Amino acid sequence: MCGIIGFSSGGNAGYNQGNCESSIDIVLNGLKSLEYRGYDSSGVAYYDETENKIKSIKKSGKLVNLSAELSCIKPVKSNIAIGHIRWATHGKPTDVNAHPHSDCSGNIAIVHNGIIENYAVLKNKLIVKGHKFITPTDSEVIAHLIEDYMKSGAKTFYEAVRLASLDLSGAFAFLAMNADEKSICAVKYGPPLVMVNKDKEIYFASDVSPLIQYSDEVIYLKNSEIAYFKDGLLKLTDFKGKTLNKTVTKIDWDASRAVKTGFSHFMQKEIFEQPSCLLDAFSSRIVSIKNSSDSFFSGFKIMLEDVRLTKKDIDKAGRIIITACGSSYYAGLVIKYITETLCGIPVIVEYGSEFRYENFPVSKNDIFIGISQSGETADTNSALEIAKEKKAGILSITNVPGSQITTMSDKGVIYTHAGPEIGVASTKAFTTQIMCGLLLALRIKEIKDAAAVAGKNLHGVNFFDEIVNLPKKAEQILFLNDSIKEIAKKYYKNTNFLYLGRGILYPIALEGALKLKEISYIHAEGYPAGEMKHGPIALVDENMPVLFLLSNNMLAPKTISNIEEIKARGGKVIAVADYEPDIDGISDIIKIPTTVEVLSPILYTIPLQILAYHIAALKGTDIDQPRNLAKSVTVE
Ligand code: G6P
Repeated sequence: MCGIIGFSSGGNAGYNQGNCESSIDIVLNGLKSLEYRGYDSSGVAYYDETENKIKSIKKSGKLVNLSAELSCIKPVKSNIAIGHIRWATHGKPTDVNAHPHSDCSGNIAIVHNGIIENYAVLKNKLIVKGHKFITPTDSEVIAHLIEDYMKSGAKTFYEAVRLASLDLSGAFAFLAMNADEKSICAVKYGPPLVMVNKDKEIYFASDVSPLIQYSDEVIYLKNSEIAYFKDGLLKLTDFKGKTLNKTVTKIDWDASRAVKTGFSHFMQKEIFEQPSCLLDAFSSRIVSIKNSSDSFFSGFKIMLEDVRLTKKDIDKAGRIIITACGSSYYAGLVIKYITETLCGIPVIVEYGSEFRYENFPVSKNDIFIGISQSGETADTNSALEIAKEKKAGILSITNVPGSQITTMSDKGVIYTHAGPEIGVASTKAFTTQIMCGLLLALRIKEIKDAAAVAGKNLHGVNFFDEIVNLPKKAEQILFLNDSIKEIAKKYYKNTNFLYLGRGILYPIALEGALKLKEISYIHAEGYPAGEMKHGPIALVDENMPVLFLLSNNMLAPKTISNIEEIKARGGKVIAVADYEPDIDGISDIIKIPTTVEVLSPILYTIPLQILAYHIAALKGTDIDQPRNLAKSVTVE
């Protein structure tokens, strides 16, 4: 989704294409770091110090088009610039509709992420006052509105921006720069905005990935806040004008984790990072206590100090409600299964986008868990707002420190520690979400039972060892890369796929199908294997590969019957299995290591990611930035 970048050096201006980095180079580099968010056009506006005016360059298509255009301009001295990658909502992705947008005078330029819901009303009023609009976008109204307040007597650019912000409704994060004052303002109401302020310089961005090269100490703007930077000084206020103190957040992502390091795509790199990410997600959070009493899980303690739930909270709630979107929603379905199995507490999983418009009865005793890689998904956060209004308790599982979801989570945040995920399709974020959900379920059990989690056995195996050994098993699956690539070669020309699983593996069938459609554009459906007979079987013929998730448990005979039903109709069967099933006629088997049932979804996910990746690579799609998709969906 749209990405915003801004820079001001508060004085010293550099030349682009010269020895020192100018604001234009900094902004263009920043946009490159945001490309992963998914976009269709881009643009930059910069203050040309020699000519004393703002100039902008905007191009539809990929950032290389903008780069090429910028490389043709003659060296220019500039110390303020803003940039944008656009994911079109109002108006086609053309050069003119790309951001930045200007006011009538050309002295103001803005870049915006979000949707201005009342733009039509504001635009009509401004047209009556003589403003000339050149695009059908909602965003252009911001520049004209600020201009209008400047004309009607706002003493500073900041004041005009503040008054304009009060008129806007919807969701917006924007940067506005002004040629007269040589200042820049950042405003947040909904979508994320982060900044780094050091050495009389300011860097703004939609997320931390472009900023970590400058500093690991960032300031997150909160909703209804404005940052104003002029002459090297930063002022932070709310929409009423009250001065605020800055809270600095330390980011523990190192910049090297946001480069491909020899892999062809970020997605591939992120698939391969999973063993170490899984380790980071649980290490230091489980401690072996070998001499404890031998209660159900004797053997270890869960160190999630940030989870501020009491036994009373859990008993009073009697249920847990999970809200999330996309892959995070599927992680929620897995976590439901885990929590119900381990804690015996019913769990309801709701799409954020549906929950906010349902009449779901929320009580102040409820416990909500929001799951979001970015922590900025508008639908998930809006659902949590409803929970907050009803005074329910909120926990979250997220990858991004300081993100909006963390500010709503009064009962605690569990960080996935997956590091930056650049590929639009979720991979390591998904598997670490499940790991964190498992730890949370164990912690809830610990609190509920008022006893150390523990138990040496779950289904006859040492559960603690199973967690500790999981990264190694994930690594063994990565060694199957080449054989999975061979399977991909057989199927990449198919146009439909069916993914089937039962029980805890059903959400993994959904996730596997989602991965394939996201990055290869092949139509794929995930279904509970038992439901296949109620519809999808009508689609099965020799052109329909059906991928089964098969586990050697009590459901195996039932799934094997489903495989027979597919074979009888000429369908091609691919199986991901943790044993050698005693059945003929499976075209391809991907054999993975065994583990306990509650950990198995993590292992079953990895071959599906690899298969989707190779199919997409063979089709030659844009794997890291698939068409029409966005990494962080900050609008409804
Ligand atoms: C987008 C991304 C998905 C992601 C979903 C939810 O659709 O493309 O990969 O699962 O948003 O994002 P979140 O940041 O809330 O996990």
